[in-house]
Amino acid sequence: MQDLIKQAAADLAASSYAIVLTGAGVSTESGVADFRGPKGIWTTNPQAEAQAYQRYERFLNDPVAYWQEMLGTVGTSSNFYRQMREVAPNPGHYAIARLEQLGIIKWTITQNVDGLHEKAGTRNVMHYHGTVEKLRCLSCGSRFSVDEYSLDKLPPLCRCGRPLKYDVVHFKEPIPSDIMDAAESEAMKCDLMLICGTSAVVYPFAALPAMARSRGRGASGVKIIEVNADPTPLTQQGVSDYLIQGKTGEILPLVVDEVERLLPQRRNHD
Ligand code: APR
Repeated sequence: MQDLIKQAAADLAASSYAIVLTGAGVSTESGVADFRGPKGIWTTNPQAEAQAYQRYERFLNDPVAYWQEMLGTVGTSSNFYRQMREVAPNPGHYAIARLEQLGIIKWTITQNVDGLHEKAGTRNVMHYHGTVEKLRCLSCGSRFSVDEYSLDKLPPLCRCGRPLKYDVVHFKEPIPSDIMDAAESEAMKCDLMLICGTSAVVYPFAALPAMARSRGRGASGVKIIEVNADPTPLTQQGVSDYLIQGKTGEILPLVVDEVERLLPQRRNHD
């Protein structure tokens, strides 16, 4: 493990345009359950996953019922979304923010809706599956902060008059095209992709590493590094160059310490 941590630090220090992709695994050490890990929400409650697959259609057909479920007043949603707004970053989030401060990580593309990357200080975050901090109008595309609405009167309405939903991408809901295009552009631009805490089984997000891999390996290609509690299809199919197996909250701070040892001149990088 120590050798791989040194290897990852050397690869990050040598990169000129690194990006990081994250999934629910980076937030489990903040107390937010993941989905498919041993104690994951879908693993422990398959009914919750079945409900989640109905959510987008429920919004389209009955926005009030959607909001009653999202606010935990009915159904299996345990007010999951409201709780998301009360959790705190862990050392893994702070390590990623530090890599951005050191000028190494240019973008963090996350599947998580918990807002913990920003709370840890990361500035360039793409919310591939949206965020609980916002509401979105499917008709005109407007986004509003949740704090602009009391959510007493359901459904909250956009200024265009149409119902608003959480700016969270539900199963069967299209990824907003602005985010999808931007994420693909970063996958095609980076020379290092650090993938943390994702099972890499949900598409189209899980296609981003293969897009980067299609640009080849070695000096003119892309270095793809996984940090994850378990091997994933990316590991098994050789899409990633190597997996550092373990907890992101423990591994990433060690990688950052090693990067700072290699790049002392960057210590005070804004
Ligand atoms: N450190 C490293 N890896 C971890 C940790 C940890 N502390 N905790 C869990 N993991 C790993 C798990 O072993 C698993 O491989 O993180 C991965 C989390 O995978 P998922 O639970 O599938 O979460 P994610 O990949 O983000 O899911 C993608 O699926 O349900 C949808 O919209 C949801 O965005 C989510 C998408």
